[in-house]
Amino acid sequence: MLRRLHSEQPDSFAFTPDNQAWAEAQITKYPEGRQASAIIPLLWRAQEQEGWLTRPAIEAVADMLDLAYIRALEVASFYFMFQLQPVGSVAHIQVCGTTSCMICGAEDLVAVCKDKIAPKAHQLSVDGKFSWEEVECLGSCANAPMAQIGKDYYEDLTAARMGEIIDELAAGTVPTPGPQNGRYASEPLSGLTSLKEFDSGHTKYNASVQLATDIGDTVKRIDGAEVPLLAPWGKANASADASNANEKPAAKVAKAKAKSKADAPVTKNKSKEKQKGTAVPAGTKPTLLSEARDGGADDLKLIKGVGPKLEGVLNGIGVFHYDQIAAWSDNEVAWADQNLVGFKGRVSRDNWVTQAQALARGEETEFSQRAKKDDIYKE
Ligand code: FES
Repeated sequence: MLRRLHSEQPDSFAFTPDNQAWAEAQITKYPEGRQASAIIPLLWRAQEQEGWLTRPAIEAVADMLDLAYIRALEVASFYFMFQLQPVGSVAHIQVCGTTSCMICGAEDLVAVCKDKIAPKAHQLSVDGKFSWEEVECLGSCANAPMAQIGKDYYEDLTAARMGEIIDELAAGTVPTPGPQNGRYASEPLSGLTSLKEFDSGHTKYNASVQLATDIGDTVKRIDGAEVPLLAPWGKANASADASNANEKPAAKVAKAKAKSKADAPVTKNKSKEKQKGTAVPAGTKPTLLSEARDGGADDLKLIKGVGPKLEGVLNGIGVFHYDQIAAWSDNEVAWADQNLVGFKGRVSRDNWVTQAQALARGEETEFSQRAKKDDIYKE
């Protein structure tokens, strides 16, 4: 299938403050110089926020990772999990059409989607609530035919049940995912023939369905306010789970939600303060140059966190030399953090001043040594 950007695009994209914080935390997972590896989680989060991947979203993610737009577009257009066109506001239904499901009735499910949603895959329903597509095997072949709706699998489907599920979603309820024919999981339909002693004492639903119903997010999109908001290695989550390894998922979710609520005012206040400009200092504009000094500009890409694109941005505003950055005060760092459009917070995040001070003295940093050795920005 030809995958290209949709003909109609919004003017801009920005992560919500919560999603921005989450995305920045994701980037810290990767080693120096390898931050581009965060592209898939960031694109995925952008899609979760908007429902589909817009061109401005792809470009915003590329800017965050200091990548050429084409590199981000290559990833977005390669993986089918990224939706390059608007999807239904309630649900996008992915019907498995591979062998097991096809033999067991996938074509009937597709017919229901064509009838109830739209005649062609990736078209929106008239009310804009639904869209559908046929996908390759989703790994639930023992429960064929099946479809993924939102984050959950609906298995052992019939055409009639598929129609009911769409109607229920349209009415604002979320049907219970998992097998739709009374099976617990993927045991024989006629009942267990072995391991019968395990047929008691289990939860109401199988583990996947139980977790889905406990969390209750299923077709709901991630807005960033969920827990864990920060990356698991982040400080905020450091205490999590060590003493709660045996805690039931429902209890964990309830506890996490309570914690999220308790933390929420801090986030909200921060956000409001940012808008009012009271909490984030505007900073002081550092001394900038109209052009590089006689010897020519320094290679700013030897500073960790500065790639070719950001180097161009810096040169464009009048920053050419290590000693310029090396002399920045805290207020000047705050100004740069706020004013490098598309790269906000990068200066303090990567501690440019310390790096630039070493480079200005003619010393090497761990990153500059590696960058020279690997020639990481060679085209
Ligand atoms: S063939 Fe449909 S889930 Fe594998």
